[in-house]
Amino acid sequence: MSVKKVAVIGAGVSGLGAIKSCLEEGLEPICFEKSNDIGGLWRYEETPQSGSPGIYKSLTCNTSKEMTAFSDYPMPDHYPNYLHHSKMMEYLRLYASHFELTEHIQFQTKVCSVRKRPDFSSSGQWDVVVEADGKQKTYIFDGVMICIGQYSEKYLPLQDFPGINKFRGKYLHSWDYKHPYDFVGKRVVVIGIGNSGADVAGEISRVAEQVFLSTRQGAWIWTRVWDNGNPMDAALFTRYNRAVQKFSPTFLINRWTENKLNRRFNHSNYGLQAKHRFLILPSTLSDDLPSHIITGRVLIKPNVKEFIETSVIFEDGTKENIDAVVFATGYTLSFPFLEDEAILDSQHTLFKSVFPPQLEKPTLAFIGLLQPVGAIIPTSELQSRWVVQVFAGLKKLPSESGMMADINRRKWKIAKQFVKSPRVSHRVQYIDYMDEIASEIGVKPNLFSLLLWDPKLAIEMFFGPCSPYQFRLQGPGIWTGARTAILTQRDRILKPLRTRVLKQSEASSCSLFWIKSICVVICLFIFMLVTI
Ligand SMILES: Cc1cc2nc3c(=O)[nH]c(=O)nc-3n(C[C@H](O)[C@H](O)[C@H](O)COP(=O)(O)OP(=O)(O)OC[C@H]3O[C@@H](n4cnc5c(N)ncnc54)[C@H](O)[C@@H]3O)c2cc1C
Ligand SMILES: *[C@@H]1O[C@H](CO)[C@@H](O)[C@H](O)[C@H]1NC(C)=O
Ligand SMILES: *[C@@H]1O[C@H](CO)[C@@H](O)[C@H](O)[C@H]1NC(C)=O
Repeated sequence: MSVKKVAVIGAGVSGLGAIKSCLEEGLEPICFEKSNDIGGLWRYEETPQSGSPGIYKSLTCNTSKEMTAFSDYPMPDHYPNYLHHSKMMEYLRLYASHFELTEHIQFQTKVCSVRKRPDFSSSGQWDVVVEADGKQKTYIFDGVMICIGQYSEKYLPLQDFPGINKFRGKYLHSWDYKHPYDFVGKRVVVIGIGNSGADVAGEISRVAEQVFLSTRQGAWIWTRVWDNGNPMDAALFTRYNRAVQKFSPTFLINRWTENKLNRRFNHSNYGLQAKHRFLILPSTLSDDLPSHIITGRVLIKPNVKEFIETSVIFEDGTKENIDAVVFATGYTLSFPFLEDEAILDSQHTLFKSVFPPQLEKPTLAFIGLLQPVGAIIPTSELQSRWVVQVFAGLKKLPSESGMMADINRRKWKIAKQFVKSPRVSHRVQYIDYMDEIASEIGVKPNLFSLLLWDPKLAIEMFFGPCSPYQFRLQGPGIWTGARTAILTQRDRILKPLRTRVLKQSEASSCSLFWIKSICVVICLFIFMLVTI
């Protein structure tokens, strides 16, 4: 049989993982990237092209390095835990050159259309039309992986803001926001309290005369720096916590978390009190918003009622003179090259957020289209590892009705867990989703047998950060460095902080080890009961 050819659309983090997975499985990838470089969202540009991701100069990861890395390529140990976007680009370049991915990418080549071939129902093949240098070219592919990201098309709901066309100040979307210099001495409203809104408001407030942050719903604010200074995701996203969470009623988790977040600052006194419980909507990650509020540089306001020429009236009737508005209102999804609506409906119905259920052949996949409560890189990488197994014919998908049943089950669960909102239709619990996809291809770690054969590893895997290396211990794509990577992850977390070395006495942790071992046996048993 000839080698299967796969089109990878986009060379952002999802595209890079997709190329690597194809190579790992012996498929032949060609990646089309419309810009002239890898990195997608993480490549900062002063004036990005419309339809490309746009980020601000100060953007720093909200997921920590041990949780964000590709599963067989830990970040260098001296990297800080939360990377600036330029450092993230550095890592992506290391990854691409280590696995020799760049030679499979055609830059400045835009995919214009992806269509089924006439014999699709037997061949499963696609016609892919690309444009480079103003010339079009058609390729035939056995599989297509769509990795175009979800932060390129601005969502700017101007119709919800009466009077905006009479407003004489300037307004822009957070996509266009690059740095605070344009706002020196200005009075600014930032609309929306997602991660970008909180970041942008805080940054502008250092130089502006006054910043107002307008929010309809409020938000729960959590921080990168968690207890004892550990990275938040590394501290919270552990298998142990997930097991406890599964065991506890939702209201208890909500109460515990909300109390904890309120201990840092009382959300209702700070005007941030959310209308929803903690688990319902994504929370906002901001280490310094409370300090901008307590110093008065940022004032929290309700929704904007209307704009008039030089001012804004909020829903509480207050009126403020305003020079500029930043809409941090998020993004919409679009797939301009998919003309056939039968491939993807308007609801983006996808089997496990990857495969369109109604295709005769499973030869098209969406990578990185979901919103894990956690990092994207390892999630989209694992999706790619599954997809290439399906493309290669090594794994089968259920029938269309089987997939639809699973989709409906998930929709129901999401409606119960989160809230009905387009923002959360692809939201997943990180560990659950990783385990689910890993089970499809037999790379889900077996903690029980590890506990017998390698208790030290099992304990770190259960109580420690659920890092991506856990999915390289067995099965296809096994990586011999995975065990060491897990056992040394805490060293890599501490390394970049140890820039002023102090003498420490090494405490013996022997008895602690046995106490932990006993705990882990009990917990694993409970965990099994709960997950099966
Ligand atoms: C402000 C912000 C902060 C974030 N912080 C984090 C974080 O800390 N951690 C985390 O895990 N996630 C974070 N995310 C999520 C982020 O989307 C992912 O980390 C990741 O960048 C997604 O990568 P991607 O490859 O899926 O998409 P992108 O990075 O958007 O890459 C898509 C690529 O596809 C190309 N492309 C698009 N259309 C075509 C076409 N028709 N033909 C050819 N090429 C095309 C684009 O040029 C681009 O290079 C953040 C997102 C935002 C907006
Ligand atoms: C926050 O402060 C208000 C008083 O302004 C008080 O009623 C409320 O109990 C406080 N919340 C918490 C969680 O302490
Ligand atoms: C990180 O930021 C992106 C974009 O705003 C968001 O989708 C994601 O949920 C954030 N992750 C965390 C852990 O806060």
